[in-house]
Amino acid sequence: MITLNNQSALVTGASSGIGWAIAVALGKAGANVAINYHLDQEGADRAAQEIRREKGRAFVIQADVSDEAQVASMFQETLREFKALDILVSNAGIQKDAKFVEMTLDQWQGVLGTNLTGAFLCAREAARIFLRQGLVPNRSRAAGKIIFVSSVHQAIPWAGHANYAASKGGMLLLMKTIAQELAPYKVRVNAIAPGAIKTPINRKAWETPEAEDSLLKLIPYDRVGETQDVAPVAVWLASDQSDYVTGTTLYVDGGMLLYPGFRTGG
Ligand code: BGC
Repeated sequence: MITLNNQSALVTGASSGIGWAIAVALGKAGANVAINYHLDQEGADRAAQEIRREKGRAFVIQADVSDEAQVASMFQETLREFKALDILVSNAGIQKDAKFVEMTLDQWQGVLGTNLTGAFLCAREAARIFLRQGLVPNRSRAAGKIIFVSSVHQAIPWAGHANYAASKGGMLLLMKTIAQELAPYKVRVNAIAPGAIKTPINRKAWETPEAEDSLLKLIPYDRVGETQDVAPVAVWLASDQSDYVTGTTLYVDGGMLLYPGFRTGG
C-alpha cells in the first residue's frame, strides 16, 4: 500500500477528467492536495469533498496556468496552506482542433499556452520550491517530484491536431531536459502518456457505439481507458517506490503505441 502521508501536492486542471482522478487518488494515498481549476469551480469542489470525505486535506485554487502571475500566486497560496510542496502534477490541457491549413494563430497559441507554457511555468515554480526546501528525509527520498500528464501524441503524429501534438512533443523534451538538469538535486521528473481515456476532452470519440467501435480499432487491448487506469500510475510516480525512476514516460494506452494496423497488415 503506497502512502504519501505528510506530503503535499498540487494538481493542475483537476476539476475534471484525468486531473480530477489523480487529485483524488493522491488525497486518498494521504497527500494534502491543492486542486487547481481554470473555469469549473464546481468540479474542483467535488474533488476536494471526495478527499475530505476520507479525512484528507484539500483546497481548491483558481488559476490560468498559461499566466505567469497567476501561476506564481497559486504556488504561494499552496505554500501558505500546506507549508511545503513535494509533488506537482502538471496536467491542465486543452484541444482546439483544426485542419492545419485552417488553424488560426489563436488556436495554435491557446493550446501551446496551456499545454506547454503552462507546464513550463508550473514546473519552474515547483522546481524553485523543491530546491529551496532540499531533502526532507522523513517525507520522501526525493526533494520533489514533477509529473507531466502528456499524451500518446508526444510520439504519435495526429492529423488535424498539429497544435496539440506539437505541445505534447515539446513536453517530452521539456520533461527529459529538466529531469537531467534537476536529478543532482534529487528532483525526479517523469511523464504519463495516456491514450484514449474517457473524459470530456474526447467525448465525441467514444460517446456513440459507432464512434467507440472506430476508436477501438486503434487500441489492441480492446477497451477505451478510464481515468482510474491513469490515477494509480501518478500515485506510484509520486511515491518512493519509483525513487530510481526519472526522465521517463509511462504510456497508459492499452497498446495504442503498438502500431495496431500491423496486427493484420504489413
Ligand atoms: C487526446 C484525446 C485522444 C487521445 C488518443 C489524448 O491526448 O486528448 O482526445 O482521444 O489522446 O488519441
